[in-house]
Amino acid sequence: MLTDKYPRAQLSHTPTPLEILNNLSKKLGGPKIWVKRDDCTGLAMGGNKTRQLEYYIGDALSKGADTLLTTGAVQSNHVRMTIAAARKLGLDVEVQLEERVDGRQPEYHTSGNPYLMKLMGAKIHHYPVGEDEEGADNALHVRAKELRKTGKKPYVIPLSGNQIPYGSLGYVDCAEELLLQLKNLSLNIDGIVLPTGSATTHAGLLCGLRALGSDIPIYGFCVRRDQKAQAERVLSKAIKVAEMIDRPGIISNNDIWVDDRMLSPGYGQLNDELLEAIRLTAFCEGLLLDPTYTGKSMAGLIHLITTGHFRPDQNIVFLHTGGAPALFGYPEILDGEEN
Ligand SMILES: Cc1ncc(COP(=O)(O)O)c(C=O)c1O
Repeated sequence: MLTDKYPRAQLSHTPTPLEILNNLSKKLGGPKIWVKRDDCTGLAMGGNKTRQLEYYIGDALSKGADTLLTTGAVQSNHVRMTIAAARKLGLDVEVQLEERVDGRQPEYHTSGNPYLMKLMGAKIHHYPVGEDEEGADNALHVRAKELRKTGKKPYVIPLSGNQIPYGSLGYVDCAEELLLQLKNLSLNIDGIVLPTGSATTHAGLLCGLRALGSDIPIYGFCVRRDQKAQAERVLSKAIKVAEMIDRPGIISNNDIWVDDRMLSPGYGQLNDELLEAIRLTAFCEGLLLDPTYTGKSMAGLIHLITTGHFRPDQNIVFLHTGGAPALFGYPEILDGEEN
């Protein structure tokens, strides 16, 4: 494997299934939509972060760490899964929750991910803002310093863009897994759709595909930053990942496709297209999307299909990156639904 030289903690249930969404494809009248079920990776309800954590925690264990520290939004799936991984591996864990999303109902702070975090019993710190990624990472490093003084061996899983993207290696592996599944099904696909946030998933999958000789385009829908900022982030992260797997030069600007049309009004905030995507996918397929990430990327895919971007004889893979626990933090998604 391209990632063999990196230490990895075995955490994920892989290969995740690749399934066809017949009803949704038919309803939209466009290409055949397949779903790569990375919502089924295991680790306290799963999601894309499991593959990423395998490499962060692999690095942590190789350095003798006994405590994991990380940061994220109040409804962070990454934080929930980091706690689960720590519990499974017998590590201590401290997390920091950032106030990134205004104007939500009380359940945002108590149900879904924060509920599961409490159930698994992590020490929770709070960080007043969610726009300052470096500040959030620095606060973790300050806490790590305190822990070191007490004899602990903390490891910070960072958030900001300029760190070594160990987590992307998990999506280099996913590219290999997906290409094998496609080969076994004799299936040619014309695009992969995913949500792009920290860009760890996007950069890793892109590098894995290109390193293995595949030119399948990746359509990344922004969940946190505008198109320009996200494109820069994906490119710089992908260049780092390409170097990490000893394939410098495989990524160029032409590989980066990002679209921020479904982001409005911002991170973790609802819009009509997102609500329609969540409801339609649940109704047609019994498949649960989430309000921050996969609902927006599905809204983006629906937009591309309904505006004729794809032909009906094409095949598209929707990477389901998880996140459904957050549905319980957004009871307003059901408002206006006929029951
Ligand atoms: C469910 C889900 N999907 C997608 C993402 C975005 O992935 P990445 O941060 O690797 O871009 C996240 C990140 O938190 C997530 O929790």
